[in-house]
Amino acid sequence: MRDNQIEITFSTTRKQKPSVDQLEFGKVFTDHMFVMNYTEGKGWHDPRITPYQPISLEPSAMIFHYGQSVFEGLKAYLTNDEQILLFRPDKNFERLNRSNERLCIPHIEEEFALVALKQLLTIEREWIPTKEGTSLYIRPFIISTDPYLGVAPAKHYQFMIILSPVGSYYKEGINPVKIAVEQQYVRAVVGGTGTAKTGGNYASSLKAQEVADKLGFSQVLWLDGKENKYIEEVGSMNIFFKINGEVITPALNGSILEGVTRGSIIELLKHWNVPVVERKISIDEIYQAAKSGLLEEAFGTGTAAVISPIGEFFWQNEKFVIQDGETGEVTQELYDTLTGIQNGTKPDPFGWSVKVESEVGSFS
Ligand code: COI
Repeated sequence: MRDNQIEITFSTTRKQKPSVDQLEFGKVFTDHMFVMNYTEGKGWHDPRITPYQPISLEPSAMIFHYGQSVFEGLKAYLTNDEQILLFRPDKNFERLNRSNERLCIPHIEEEFALVALKQLLTIEREWIPTKEGTSLYIRPFIISTDPYLGVAPAKHYQFMIILSPVGSYYKEGINPVKIAVEQQYVRAVVGGTGTAKTGGNYASSLKAQEVADKLGFSQVLWLDGKENKYIEEVGSMNIFFKINGEVITPALNGSILEGVTRGSIIELLKHWNVPVVERKISIDEIYQAAKSGLLEEAFGTGTAAVISPIGEFFWQNEKFVIQDGETGEVTQELYDTLTGIQNGTKPDPFGWSVKVESEVGSFS
C-alpha cells in the first residue's frame, strides 16, 4: 500500500532563472522534481520531491531497449493576482492512464498525482514566468527501470514530474507555420500506439520531420497509415480547418492522439455557435477547398503549440497558401480566448482552470 506522504528534500542551491525574453521550449529545468517508484506486488511507493538531478539506471534498464514509457504535457500560469493556475490537469492524468493501459504500465492514482504536482508547483512558483506567451511547462512521465533484456512488461517503474519555464514552441512564435504533407512515412495505424502519448511515436516521426525541416517546413502533416489519404494530425498538435464557414477536425479514429486542447477548442466553438464537426477529411478535399478559395483558415492545437496558425501546406510538389499566409480571424479569437482562460485574464465559463490553493502548503 502506497504511503501518501510526500517526502520533501530541498535543494541546497538555487539555479539562476533565465531571462523571460529569451525563453525557448524545454531547455531549462527548475530546482526540484517529483519522483515515485513502482514495484510489482507493492504498488506505487516512496513519493518524494527532490532536487532536480540526474537519475541512475543500469545500462540494462528496460526503458533503454524497448521504450516502455509514457508522458504528458501541461502548463502552469501565474495570474496577475499571483494565483497559480493549471489548465484541465485531470484530463492529462486521465490520458496518462489511458497511455499506461496501452503500454502495460500500472495505472497511477490520478488525484494523488495532482496533489503531488500542486506541491511541486507551490515549491517552484517563482519559476513560473508571467510574460505573455510564456508559462511553466510540466512534463509528467513514467519509465520502466528493471535491469532485464527479455521483452515483457516491466515489474519496476519510475514516475517523475519535471518543470521547465517556456516560451513558444515554434520559432515563428504565434505567426503562421508552414507544413509539409508527409507522403512516404506514416505515424500510426489503427491498432498501434497512435492514441497513446509514448516516446516511440515521436521517435518514429523524426525522419520525416528531418526531411521537412531541411525543406524549410516547421512540421509534417500525417496522413492515415493505410491509404495515405485521410488527415490525422501534425507532428506535435491536432489540426483544424475552416472551410466555407464550418470548422472541421479529423474524427478520433483509433490512431490520432486525443488532445486536451483539441477537445477544449471544439467545446469553445460550440459555445460560440460556430459550426464544428469531427469527421474523416482527405488531403484531396483540403486541396480542392484551397483551389476553390473555400479554405478560409487552418490551425494546429496542442499544449506546447497552444493554437498555431498554419499559413501554407506543401503537397505533391505544390504549395498552397491560406489567407495570404496571415492568421485567420477565428484562429486569432480562439488563441486570445484560450490563452486568456489559461492565464486568468479572461472569464472561464467552463471551469477549466484549476487553482493551486495555498492550503497545499508553503515550503519555504
Ligand atoms: C505537448 O503539446 O505538450 C506535447 O507533448 C507535444 C510535444 C512537445 C511532444
